[in-house]
Amino acid sequence: MSPATAQHRVVPANAADVPHIVRCWTELIAVHAPIDARLYATVPDAEERYREHVRRQINAPKGVVVVAPTDDDHGIKGYLLGGHGQRAGVYTVRDVGMIFDVAVSPAHRRQGVGEALVAAGLRRFKLRGLTDVQVTWSPGNRLADGFWRKLGFAPLLIEAYRPL
Ligand SMILES: CC(C)(COP(=O)(O)OP(=O)(O)OC[C@H]1O[C@@H](n2cnc3c(N)ncnc32)[C@H](O)[C@@H]1OP(=O)(O)O)[C@@H](O)C(=O)NCCC(=O)NCCS
Repeated sequence: MSPATAQHRVVPANAADVPHIVRCWTELIAVHAPIDARLYATVPDAEERYREHVRRQINAPKGVVVVAPTDDDHGIKGYLLGGHGQRAGVYTVRDVGMIFDVAVSPAHRRQGVGEALVAAGLRRFKLRGLTDVQVTWSPGNRLADGFWRKLGFAPLLIEAYRPL
């Protein structure tokens, strides 16, 4: 972990963090909308649905939700939301850590916050005995592509869509 990354505090999320997490998520969605306006279009109550999803993951035994609080503790610089996933029963590596969302607010990007969040998430997966972790990102998302490759993630599958 670089010195810039080590300076960021990362803690488990609690109920008070949920509105901040939802705000950060809207910034994540803003990055995706231009990549595919139709597939990333959200429903009118998307924020409420995501709020509930975050609350559930915070309380789920297999959930991993961590935040990097701002230095004044009045908000967050970013968050990571993950959980456990299962690959098909034919594979020897079956249970894997899943990173569903990572977002850092624009004002805090490129300062090591994202890397600190991922390091904290990976530590939690390891402590639970998992050996591998999965994340999905869009090749059209230049922020994510540079970030995940730098952190050692290598593509294994391509998730593809076409209109019917
Ligand atoms: C992707 C994201 C989480 C990265 O967070 P961050 O705090 O800015 O990342 P870090 O500062 O920890 O970056 C760590 C390394 O990743 C790479 N990286 C990060 N952002 C990058 C970018 N825009 N372009 C190229 N490489 C990048 C760099 O190698 C960087 O190290 P360096 O700054 O020393 O060169 C952030 O840009 C973000 O929230 N984006 C919008 C939401 C999103 O796309 N989330 C991922 C969806 S899967």
